[in-house]
Amino acid sequence: MPDPFRHYEGVPVLDLPADPPGPETPAADGPTFLSQLLYYSAAISATKIVPSTGFKYALRVNPSSGNLHPTEFHFATRGLKDWPDGLYHYRPSSHMAEQRATGHFDIAGLSAPIVFILTSIAWREAWKYRDRAYRYCLLDIGHAWQALALAARAMGCESAAIRDFPDDAVAQLLRLHEDEWPMLLVETRTNAVRAPDSGETVWYGSHANQLSTEVIPYPSIDAVHAATKVRHLAAADPCPTGSGEITLPAPASSRTFAEIARTRRSALDFAGGTQSMSLSQLSAVLAATTELLSFVQLYLYVHHIDTLEPGIYRFRPEGATLEKIKSGDQRVAAAGLSLGQDLAGNACVAFSMIGDLERATRAHGDRGYRYVHFEAGAIGHRLYLAAEALGLGATGIGAFYDEEVHRYLHLTPEQGQVVYHFAIGYPVRDPRLQA
Ligand SMILES: Cc1cc2nc3c(=O)[nH]c(=O)nc-3n(C[C@H](O)[C@H](O)[C@H](O)COP(=O)(O)O)c2cc1C
Repeated sequence: MPDPFRHYEGVPVLDLPADPPGPETPAADGPTFLSQLLYYSAAISATKIVPSTGFKYALRVNPSSGNLHPTEFHFATRGLKDWPDGLYHYRPSSHMAEQRATGHFDIAGLSAPIVFILTSIAWREAWKYRDRAYRYCLLDIGHAWQALALAARAMGCESAAIRDFPDDAVAQLLRLHEDEWPMLLVETRTNAVRAPDSGETVWYGSHANQLSTEVIPYPSIDAVHAATKVRHLAAADPCPTGSGEITLPAPASSRTFAEIARTRRSALDFAGGTQSMSLSQLSAVLAATTELLSFVQLYLYVHHIDTLEPGIYRFRPEGATLEKIKSGDQRVAAAGLSLGQDLAGNACVAFSMIGDLERATRAHGDRGYRYVHFEAGAIGHRLYLAAEALGLGATGIGAFYDEEVHRYLHLTPEQGQVVYHFAIGYPVRDPRLQA
């Protein structure tokens, strides 16, 4: 297993104020702003202890396949109050910023005071998940993007994600280790600003730690990454529309964003049994995804939703309706299709996210493959937080049988491919969870 933490050796490490105020309290200075933003999007939020061995490990605000966290958060700042302009790497283990360089970094021409560069270290995922790891890395980026975007939104700030940028130029500018690839840029605006620094760029050594002495190559990961680097500018085709026969009620919730983000966890399993979610809870969960749905469609395996017969449904976001595809108990099917994971059958509802890879690649070239997975990860993040807001539990499911899902849902290649599974329900208690 490669080292789960990336560090830059010999660089100044800047404190981010501990226990920052909730996101609704506007930060008056740069350090507090950064601390809030990262505390509610990427920081450590709990620990688990394995009872048999006493082994302790950290969990973060953003989820990650296998808790392996291939995503690194770098950021360039310019004109942020009480914070030197420069290039930083977030160190989640101590909630600090490693100052890799000072000066101005022009990241793809973006002008916001903070530009995040989310990168993936595929090896950190591939040693366990092999070729499939690339997909997990992309989904994890989608989660990290939404974690940042929603924290910024809760702080009353604008943010924007930029998927189309020159990968190699950004990697070179940031002097990234060759094992680390830039995947997504997220620019964030704040009022805690000042005039930008003038002066030259100064690097502070900035050598990334070696994660393993030995790395097993996965040529297909390198190949798909190289193929999806190519940029292809064209307008996206319109999303498919349509409507179903079941109209969903309007959503409602009362917990604060800070609570929801910091207490979100993946359920180990769900209670099963007969306890149901209400239709309005399902509606709230689905409503949270609507603004993101572009290349992804949600298919639901409904097990226990009040007033909704068990079966498979397709979510039609335009009119907030559900269209029934299949009737009958789907618990065995949902678990079986999710690589035999019981949690997909014990949940109240499980999902197959079906990505229209054809339409994405027509619009964006092979790079569109990444975008569909970012979108699915981002939708997953919305589902996690919506479930948490309702006092329910959720789990992202990256392990499923692709071809069997297509057959079971009668999907033709033109209708899309499964890119992510998800489950929501009543979580069982996890005795390993400490905080
Ligand atoms: C892309 C992705 C795929 C995942 N796949 C699975 C899965 O197949 N089965 C499972 O039990 N958990 C899965 N998880 C949940 C992770 O194991 C979980 O996020 C991680 O252990 C960290 O725990 P936390 O979410 O409570 O922070 C997945 C999470 C993500 C983000």
